[in-house]
Amino acid sequence: MSSGPAGPATRTTGNPQASELISHLGPADLESQLRRDALRGLTAAKKSIPSKWFYDHKGSMLFDQITRLPEYYLTRSERQILRERAAAIVEKTQAKTMVELGCGLSEKTRVLLDAFQRRGSLTTFVPFDVDGEVLKMAAVELVKRYPEVEVQGIVGDFEQHLGSIEVPGRSLVIFLGSTIGNLNPSERASLLSQLNSSLKPGDWLLLGVDLVKDTATLEAAYNDSSGISAAFNLNMLSVLNARLDANFDVGGFEHVARFNPATEQMEMFLRATRPQKVRLNTLALDIRFGRGEMMHTEISAKFRRSGLESELRASGMEPEFWWTDSGGSFALSLSRKPGGNKAQQKTSYGD
Ligand code: SAH
Ligand code: AVI
Repeated sequence: MSSGPAGPATRTTGNPQASELISHLGPADLESQLRRDALRGLTAAKKSIPSKWFYDHKGSMLFDQITRLPEYYLTRSERQILRERAAAIVEKTQAKTMVELGCGLSEKTRVLLDAFQRRGSLTTFVPFDVDGEVLKMAAVELVKRYPEVEVQGIVGDFEQHLGSIEVPGRSLVIFLGSTIGNLNPSERASLLSQLNSSLKPGDWLLLGVDLVKDTATLEAAYNDSSGISAAFNLNMLSVLNARLDANFDVGGFEHVARFNPATEQMEMFLRATRPQKVRLNTLALDIRFGRGEMMHTEISAKFRRSGLESELRASGMEPEFWWTDSGGSFALSLSRKPGGNKAQQKTSYGD
C-alpha cells in the first residue's frame, strides 16, 4: 500500500505496551460524523443508522461475546479455515507487513501471526479499527505475544482512511469476519477499488466471507437464545443517547433480524414497540416512531464464490485461492494485485 491523502492524524506512544497508535478519528471527528449520519438517517422516511456506530467499547465487547455463541458459527468456521491454511497463506504471500481492517480484538489473527512467527518473515502488523479502545486492547496483547513484530495501530474508518496507511515491503491486507458484508454493494465496490489503488503490484488481500445457506441457520446466528445479538443491536440506542445527548428508551424497542432471500443478506432493525417521541439534544431534533416502526441498523451480506470473485475482479484484484471450512459455511478468498514478482505465483499448494 502506498501513502495517500491522510487527514490530520494524532500519534500516541504513551502506552508502554503498544509500539504506536495513530488516530485519524478523535472524539470531535466521531461526534461530527455521527451527527451527520444521525441527522440524515433518522429524518429519512425509512429510518436508519450506519452499523459502524455499534462499536463503542460496550458494542465491541458484545460482539466479542457474539463470536462465542453456539449459534454464531461464523467465527468458528473462519478460525478452522485459518488453522488449515495459515501456512499456505504465509508461504504464498511472503508478506513483510500485514494490515488488518476492522481488527476488533484480532483474536483469530493470532493463527496467522503464529504461522508468520514460525516462518519469521513478518516485520510489521497494522491493526486498524474505528474503535480506539478495542484497538488498544488488541495492541497490548499483540506486543506481548509477538515481540519481534512492530505493531502500528491505526484508529480510522476503512471507508475514509485507507490512503493513509503506509506499508513498506510486500503486504497482505486481511479483512476477516465477513465485515465486508456489512457494506452494501456500492460501498463494497468503492472499498475494494480504494484498496486496490493503495496496494502495490504483487500485494495480497485475504477476505473472510460468510456464505449463502439455509434461512434457519442464518437467522439463528442473529437471534441467539441468550439474547446477546439483541443486546448488541439495542446498544446502538445507548450509543446515540451518550454521544448525541438523546433520550431513546431502550426498553421501547425490540431486536429484529431476518434473512432477505432476494438480496441474500441478513437485515437488522430496531422496532418500536409503542409510539414514542425521542429528543436528540445535540442535534436540536425531535423524532417520532409509530408503533411497529423499524429503524434499520445493519445488513450482513451472504456471499457466493462467483459473486465475490466478480466484485474482486471489478476492483482490479485477481482472486487466486478459495478455501472453505469442512461444513461449507464460510470462505477465505486470497487475491493478488496483478503485476510484481511473477516468481511468487509459481509456489504451489495442496488445495
Ligand atoms: N475482525 C474481527 C472483528 C469483527 S467486528 C473478527 O473477525 O472477529 C467488526 C469490527 O470492524 C469492529 O471491531 C468494528 O469496530 C470495526 N469497524 C466497523 N466499521 C468500521 C469502519 N467503517 N472502519 C473501521 N473499522 C470498522
Ligand atoms: C462484524 N459483522 C461481520 C457481524 C455480522 O455478522 O454481520 C456483526 C454482527 N451483527 C450481528 N451479529 C453480529
